[in-house]
Amino acid sequence: MIFLISCSTTSTTVVAPLEIPGAHFVGNKACADCHADIVRKFPMSPHARLHFENAAMPGQSGCESCHGPGSEHIRSGGAAKFIINPGKNPESCFQCHLDVHAEFNLPQHHPVIEGHMNCTDCHDPHGGDIFKPAGGLAMATQNQSCAQCHQAQTRPFVFEHEALREGCTVCHSPHGSINRKMLVESDPNLCLRCHAQVQGPNVPAGHIYIGNTDHTTFLQIGTCWTSGCHTAIHGSNVDPRLRY
Ligand code: HEC
Ligand code: HEC
Ligand code: HEC
Ligand code: HEC
Ligand code: HEC
Ligand code: HEC
Ligand code: HEC
Repeated sequence: MIFLISCSTTSTTVVAPLEIPGAHFVGNKACADCHADIVRKFPMSPHARLHFENAAMPGQSGCESCHGPGSEHIRSGGAAKFIINPGKNPESCFQCHLDVHAEFNLPQHHPVIEGHMNCTDCHDPHGGDIFKPAGGLAMATQNQSCAQCHQAQTRPFVFEHEALREGCTVCHSPHGSINRKMLVESDPNLCLRCHAQVQGPNVPAGHIYIGNTDHTTFLQIGTCWTSGCHTAIHGSNVDPRLRY
């Protein structure tokens, strides 16, 4: 069966709604008796804007779109075996986010499908601020969520690389990528998007200038961050040109 869901900006198809043997959908209000804190903050979540175009799921079944039909869980007074917890298994997220599922299947990825990590390490499923930990400007929050586990790249540096102010995701695809280190590009194009190659009468034919420096021979050796060049790509405490 196909469920159509829609929200203010998007519409997505849920291929198969979650099932729990013997249970039916009851709607968000039924959860409030015992999980008042979550029900209270949930309206801020982008998931609260979903509407289901199917009679089996009442319009306000947001909670159950991830947790499955709740009637048996409630009848049993809250038994965990009658409710799906996507914090333990992201399958229920993938019923709608098929593209994200595909990204986590790319050769380089965070080990979510392997069960070593979860969506909730980076995303808050209930609150309005979908990035964890919540608070602050969107981009700062996003980098902070990476900082929980990657301190070497996120600590303060004497010579910062300003690129990081635009977020880790200008260079990394956090779900997965075909490139090593989950980079969005595997070659100097990763850097040339912001550090345009210099053109002009002072640049000899066939030479590649980046900044004030002739990079022609460097780029024959490898990419910008390998071959002993800008290896301190996240920032350096000794070299303004991010070489070490
Ligand atoms: C009658 C009270 C009650 C109602 C109503 C209720 N729950 Fe629960 N729920 C509980 C209790 C108690 C626990 C703790 C169970 C445990 O730790 O074993 C729980 C735990 C959970 C968990 C965590 C399960 C896990 O794996 O640890 C989820 C998810 C959950 N509830 C979702 C819901 C949803 C969604 C609704 C509404 C459809 C709902 N609950 C309605 C009492 C309730
Ligand atoms: C986008 C999917 C999604 C929606 C929608 C959702 N949840 Fe959750 N819920 C999760 C995930 C993921 C976890 C596991 C969190 C973790 O492990 O940190 C969780 C955990 C829980 C828990 C147990 C852990 C806790 O934080 O206490 C309860 C209870 C719960 N949800 C209730 C609800 C209720 C009630 C609603 C609706 C108001 C709701 N959820 C809506 C994904 C969702
Ligand atoms: C029933 C379908 C459905 C399920 C299940 C679902 N999502 Fe979503 N999710 C959506 C839709 C639709 C949007 C787009 C909302 C919008 O654009 O406002 C969305 C948006 C998001 C966003 C982006 C929010 C933003 O601000 O751009 C994140 C992150 C997300 N979901 C994570 C999750 C996680 C993690 C789970 C599982 C715990 C999950 N979703 C389960 C349908 C779903
Ligand atoms: C390592 C941290 C991390 C994990 C783990 C993670 N995400 Fe994300 N996710 C992000 C970041 C960062 C963005 C913002 C990407 C951007 O702005 O380019 C994002 C964006 C999204 C979006 C909105 C944009 C899009 O790509 O469609 C959705 C939906 C989403 N994530 C769902 C999920 C689901 C579902 C899971 C678990 C299966 C998950 N994420 C696990 C970091 C993570
Ligand atoms: C909960 C911890 C956690 C969070 C949060 C997290 N990561 Fe990771 N990250 C890991 C783990 C674990 C690995 C190692 C994966 C492996 O070896 O399979 C990893 C690997 C990586 C790698 C590749 C390293 C390599 O050797 O291939 C990059 C790049 C990366 N993470 C970037 C990010 C970014 C960007 C964010 C924020 C959007 C983020 N991570 C958030 C745990 C985390
Ligand atoms: C300007 C592009 C760029 C930005 C922005 C960026 N990275 Fe990276 N990152 C790279 C490159 C290039 C590598 C590969 C370095 C290598 O191959 O040794 C890398 C490697 C990594 C690794 C693997 C380190 C290792 O030793 O294997 C992690 C983890 C990582 N980055 C996390 C982050 C986090 C977290 C952020 C945001 C705070 C971030 N990166 C922002 C370009 C970037
Ligand atoms: C999102 C844009 C962006 C990306 C992508 C980016 N940078 Fe930068 N980078 C900057 C900004 C902004 C500065 C500071 C202003 C300047 O010096 O141009 C900077 C500064 C630098 C500097 C110091 C320049 C100096 O002489 O002070 C180096 C070296 C550098 N970047 C290397 C790289 C490399 C290598 C990559 C690819 C792995 C890269 N950058 C990707 C934006 C970016």
